[in-house]
Amino acid sequence: MKALILVGGFGTRLRPLTLSMPKPLVEFANKPMLLHQIEALKAVGVTEVILAINYQPELMMNFIKEFEEKLAIKITCSREIEPLGTAGPLALARETLIDGTGNSFFVLNSDVISEYPFKEMIEFHNSHGGEASIMVTKVDEPSKYGVVILQETTGKVEKFVEKPKVFVGNKINAGIYLLNPSVLDRIELRPTSIEKEVFPRIAAENKLFAMVLPGFWMDVGQPKDYITGLRLYLDSLNKTSPSKLAKGIFAVGNVLVDESAVIEDDCLIGPDVAIGPGCVIESGVRLSSCTVMRGARVKKHACISNSIIGLYSTVGRWARLENMTILGEDVHVGDEVYSNGGVVLPHKEIKSSILKPEIIM
Ligand code: GDD
Ligand code: MG
Repeated sequence: MKALILVGGFGTRLRPLTLSMPKPLVEFANKPMLLHQIEALKAVGVTEVILAINYQPELMMNFIKEFEEKLAIKITCSREIEPLGTAGPLALARETLIDGTGNSFFVLNSDVISEYPFKEMIEFHNSHGGEASIMVTKVDEPSKYGVVILQETTGKVEKFVEKPKVFVGNKINAGIYLLNPSVLDRIELRPTSIEKEVFPRIAAENKLFAMVLPGFWMDVGQPKDYITGLRLYLDSLNKTSPSKLAKGIFAVGNVLVDESAVIEDDCLIGPDVAIGPGCVIESGVRLSSCTVMRGARVKKHACISNSIIGLYSTVGRWARLENMTILGEDVHVGDEVYSNGGVVLPHKEIKSSILKPEIIM
């Protein structure tokens, strides 16, 4: 089986983290988002993953080289000259997706995190005889997603409405599809949206089916959702593989610490914290609901909550970062600085406090 992952898009809503790398390579729970998906695809027998890309191909190629070998799976790149939206890339990769076997293939949005129940999805797809299957999940704020109206008993999709202005339902497209090759005959090679142009038509022919995704789900393409997604992910990890979570006396609730990170004495960390490879958390630090990415250092007695600390950044002694403070790559926050929701672009030095949420260029 093959899978195509939509890795284009500029990731504007996840800036400044996406200023130094494409969104799918931003680390989530200590590994690139894309890796969570590729590992889960491999586990159900996918042998080739096609990355549909239109932005920063060099960084992506380095990623491919590193992980093709590590994961022993074929990863290829399908590169757009102009952004082709969420359906055009399927037409572009048509020859690779149709491999003569008649097999259906997976298509994923690259910014969704879940337990990826692909095995259940294959069973569902084989059971309904339609042309396409999509995963749906319930959310409180459906207007920022694609809303799906389905028959409860069969899963047949009656209507697909992308980002509706008025409430039509609260089950939304989770960005995980299993499609028959015939779907490719419906897509032209031009910028086009699978949500607006393809799914509504398949639904009108009664050939689109939806299954409710078991377990948690989150689109982590925005900082607030990224932090919420981390909580849900760690909660799920605690149920499925609790041994992966930190057990030290510093840990409160679910905490993920890379084995190469150093945690000094008298820290209090958690709940819902991820600390990446090579990080140093000096003594007396307090962390909750936050991610500290690869190579970052948090100095003595700093306090961080509801924030993301980008790659190789440093946070000064007695600093206090909260309320969706997001540090891009290589940002240096001085001693005693307070940040209330500051969003700091890469390679900056912050010497004075940020009192209200704002972007620091
Ligand atoms: N290759 C390629 N080219 N990929 C693209 C392009 C493009 O021109 N535009 C967007 N993508 C990729 C993004 O990188 C992302 O992985 C996926 O397509 C969806 O784009 P987003 O920009 O993240 O869309 P969204 O979050 O507003 O909405 C989508 O996801 C929701 C679930 O998270 C839709 O599919 C909604 O229906 C869905 O509910
Ligand atoms: Mg998204």
